[in-house]
Amino acid sequence: MTLQSAGQDVFGIESQLSETRVFAPNAAFAKQAHIGSMEQYTREWERSISDPEAFWGQVAKQLHWFKPWNKVLEWKAPDAKWFLGGKTNLAYNCIDRQVKAGRGNDIAIIWEGEPLPNGKPEVRRLTYADALAETSRCANALKAMGVKKGDIVTIYMPMVPELAIACLACVRIGAAHSVIFGGFSSSAIVDRVVDAKSKVIITADGGWRRGGIVPLKDNVDEACKGTDLIKHVLVLKRTAQDVAWTNGRDMWWHDAVDKASADCPCEEMDAEDLAFVLYTSGTTGKPKGIMHTTGGYMVYTYLTSKLTFDLHAPSPGAPSKQVYWCTADVGWITGHSYIIYGIMPNGVPTLMFEGAPNFPDAGRFWDMVQRHRVTHFYTAPTAIRAFMKWGDQWPKKHDLSSLQLLGTVGEPINPEAWMWYHNLIGGQKCPIVDTWWQTETGGHMITPLPGAIPTKPGSCTVPFFGVDAAIVNEKGEEMPANTGGLLAIRKPWPSMLRGILGDRERFIETYWSTIKTKDGTPYYKAGDGARRDSDSYFWVMGRIDDVINVSGHRIGTMEVESALVGHEAVVEAAVVGMPHEIKGTGIAAFCTLAPGVHVDDALRERLRSHVAKDIGPFAKPDVLRFTDALPKTRSGKIMRRLLRDIASGKAQVGDTTTLEDYSVLAKLKESEEG
Ligand code: WT7
Repeated sequence: MTLQSAGQDVFGIESQLSETRVFAPNAAFAKQAHIGSMEQYTREWERSISDPEAFWGQVAKQLHWFKPWNKVLEWKAPDAKWFLGGKTNLAYNCIDRQVKAGRGNDIAIIWEGEPLPNGKPEVRRLTYADALAETSRCANALKAMGVKKGDIVTIYMPMVPELAIACLACVRIGAAHSVIFGGFSSSAIVDRVVDAKSKVIITADGGWRRGGIVPLKDNVDEACKGTDLIKHVLVLKRTAQDVAWTNGRDMWWHDAVDKASADCPCEEMDAEDLAFVLYTSGTTGKPKGIMHTTGGYMVYTYLTSKLTFDLHAPSPGAPSKQVYWCTADVGWITGHSYIIYGIMPNGVPTLMFEGAPNFPDAGRFWDMVQRHRVTHFYTAPTAIRAFMKWGDQWPKKHDLSSLQLLGTVGEPINPEAWMWYHNLIGGQKCPIVDTWWQTETGGHMITPLPGAIPTKPGSCTVPFFGVDAAIVNEKGEEMPANTGGLLAIRKPWPSMLRGILGDRERFIETYWSTIKTKDGTPYYKAGDGARRDSDSYFWVMGRIDDVINVSGHRIGTMEVESALVGHEAVVEAAVVGMPHEIKGTGIAAFCTLAPGVHVDDALRERLRSHVAKDIGPFAKPDVLRFTDALPKTRSGKIMRRLLRDIASGKAQVGDTTTLEDYSVLAKLKESEEG
């Protein structure tokens, strides 16, 4: 196998690829794997593409349906309907189906809270029977608050089992959920609540992070001042700190849920009924509510979980040989699909954790792997790079011999981090699955299957079954090998987004209007630049729009810009991504200031905390630079590519022929943070 050389192509997608290492699947692993060879992968992939209806129909039969579908797929671009006429329920397939199969006393969820001041880790284990009772109680409590099928319930909780329970309770009664990551601020909650017209929020008095308390309830109270939509707030007691209370609106979980009946039949959902909305960043300041429906999402996350992670359900009543841990927060799509909805139907215990990777020390993850005998470990490249920096002594202090498979997600992984993961964490024996996908795709799209696909550090390798991925230009023509282009998906897949809540136009504009083939068929545009090598392996280079991936958190540069100009000191702001050793991409903000504003570190701090308050702490700029003017074209467009070059410290900035005022450039270079 050979690989491409460095270069820059027409899309400005840069590549420094010189990676030539190839790792064959571990033979012992391949022997027991669902998909055990490249031949089997190729055969199945071709079948899934040539006859998707037969392929997905067969997969869907492995799950429970109240009523079978009449038709597997109806596709009229950009609208896909999967399993038409079928009736099912996500919660039923996660929980009830396992209980019915005799797994009532088997472990469904293992949870570990942030270590308490006495140093003891708090651990809870929920069986499928526990999950069934608790989910049903919570569902009945929601019903008592007037939640009905079709409503959207907002969930803003710490990483505790009740977060998974709350999600499952919603889908059990046919309400969709909108989970907001606990790192978001109160104004982000208002925007999302208003967009989803939520009347109920489920939250907690607080959550633990690095020994401190995240004031979730305070943030909800603040948000409720910004909208009068919220009628009920269900509050889990987690930290037991004092919180303000609004009688009639606020209700404790231990009052409302614990006292509710544990009997709540599942709503029979149409396969195309809304399952959840999840807000993600796009190129405008307004986040978009990505809609996922029930049947296709369920089938696709089930199969990707099973095959990408090679999960094997234990016999009912027998302890599971596998313990699966995804370190993501349920507030992101990774947590939805690969902590809850894809994993639970596979019957393998899913581990959830609260806290941070470096608290109480940088050994937290490895200590947990050792104590819980974790076999499958799924995390983000940014975490891996942070661990590399914290030093090899932390993983080396722990027994990681239980690990059998490693995964990464969220951003491109640099080959150096891949090798460290492979050597230090995987002991050179664990396959690494580098899974490329998005909030919009619902599940893994391009990923190695661990028993079948040889891996190359930094490549997410080959498409999953049913995925027709390609590198194309704007006419939909495929780019030759080793040439950068737009990453596109040419055929529908079961868990594809069904739209953006309340914004049909933006849905079409964002995903379906850039790549138009000769016959007018649009392709799904992922928003990433990528290339394929001569073995047809995919290498994702990163976003080509105004979205950046900071530590695996997706942020729109426009969101940060509007936060900055919302501050009285800032007149104009332009935000770009810049290379960052740990985060992958850091945030650089260029601002022009109001007259008389004095530039000093205190101003930088004020602006950073302003952004934290407006969006969330994870969106704080890493670098703030102040300038008299931003570089613009003669037609007044900010030249972001130029700013990107300056932010990344390039000596030579790109093409400046359209720059209006050349003196801006020299001044910008001088504006570096002191
Ligand atoms: C964007 C989607 C998918 C769950 C977490 C992120 C980037 C994701 C990879 C990967 C290279 C990746 C892309 C994508 N991305 N996984 N394995 N290799 N890039 O979901 O917040 O919707 O972000 O994350 O740029 O477009 P998201």
